[in-house]
Amino acid sequence: MAFLKNKVVVITGASSGIGEATALAFAREGCSVVLAARRLDKLKALEKKILSLDVACLAIQTDVSQQKEVQRLFSFVEKRFGRVDILVNNAGVGRNVSLENTSLKDWQSILDINLSGVFYCSQEVVRLMMKKHTAGHIITVSSVLGLIAMPGRSAYCASKHAVTGFKRSLRWELRKDHISVSIVHPAGVDTEILQNSAVERKKWKMLRSEDIAEYIIALASRDILRIVYVRILNVWRRFYYLVKYYPQ
Ligand SMILES: NC(=O)c1ccc[n+]([C@@H]2O[C@H](COP(=O)([O-])OP(=O)(O)OC[C@H]3O[C@@H](n4cnc5c(N)ncnc54)[C@H](OP(=O)(O)O)[C@@H]3O)[C@@H](O)[C@H]2O)c1
Repeated sequence: MAFLKNKVVVITGASSGIGEATALAFAREGCSVVLAARRLDKLKALEKKILSLDVACLAIQTDVSQQKEVQRLFSFVEKRFGRVDILVNNAGVGRNVSLENTSLKDWQSILDINLSGVFYCSQEVVRLMMKKHTAGHIITVSSVLGLIAMPGRSAYCASKHAVTGFKRSLRWELRKDHISVSIVHPAGVDTEILQNSAVERKKWKMLRSEDIAEYIIALASRDILRIVYVRILNVWRRFYYLVKYYPQ
């Protein structure tokens, strides 16, 4: 896709799952890719793979729940690439735990990563996009649990519903600055986040990280036909999964 070639893309949570697949997909489109997450060994392995595709890639160890680390990330990116065209807010954690067993530490950590992390990254990238007058794009991976609810996921649902509201507000706010805001609501994707979950046993019913990456690429490329095509495909898969297994 010519539109995406040479764009600078920052992806949080790039060390596994959807983030990793998305980073590879952007690299294959000829983008310069910045990988952020906590596990540096995984980022470095992915960086090596992406560099072999002959595109620029930078792995920066970042905990998105720490504002200073996020500021450091974007300051590195500005120094190296001068701008950011696309941010994919993808880093996230989730636990399947009842309210009475949710510790304050768990609650805080889920909100810090899933919600505050999105705020820190979005604020930094918007400041940079405005400074450089970039008609950028912020794509955030929320969840179907940012639209509906499920028992045993109260902290996760709270964080993802908040992310959905945050992004819907930003979509209006940033329109005048020509910064686009998109939100993705996946369901049941076969990644590490579901490893300890009951749905893990139904792997064969799940979407793949690559399916979500394909949708993110379609959004970033602003190719309406492609967006509709991938959306229909994934919505069909999503409803099949929900109808079959929700609620359990
Ligand atoms: N899989 C699903 O069924 C599903 C459904 C709906 C929504 N989602 C959302 O999709 C996104 C990606 O998850 P996934 O399914 O691909 O699971 P995953 O493989 O567990 O990926 C989660 C990513 O987030 C990163 N991360 C976690 N905490 C972080 C922190 N404090 N700072 C920076 N990075 C952090 C992890 O890297 P490190 O551990 O290396 O930091 C990892 O790269 C999440 O936002 C999740 O909520 C997933």
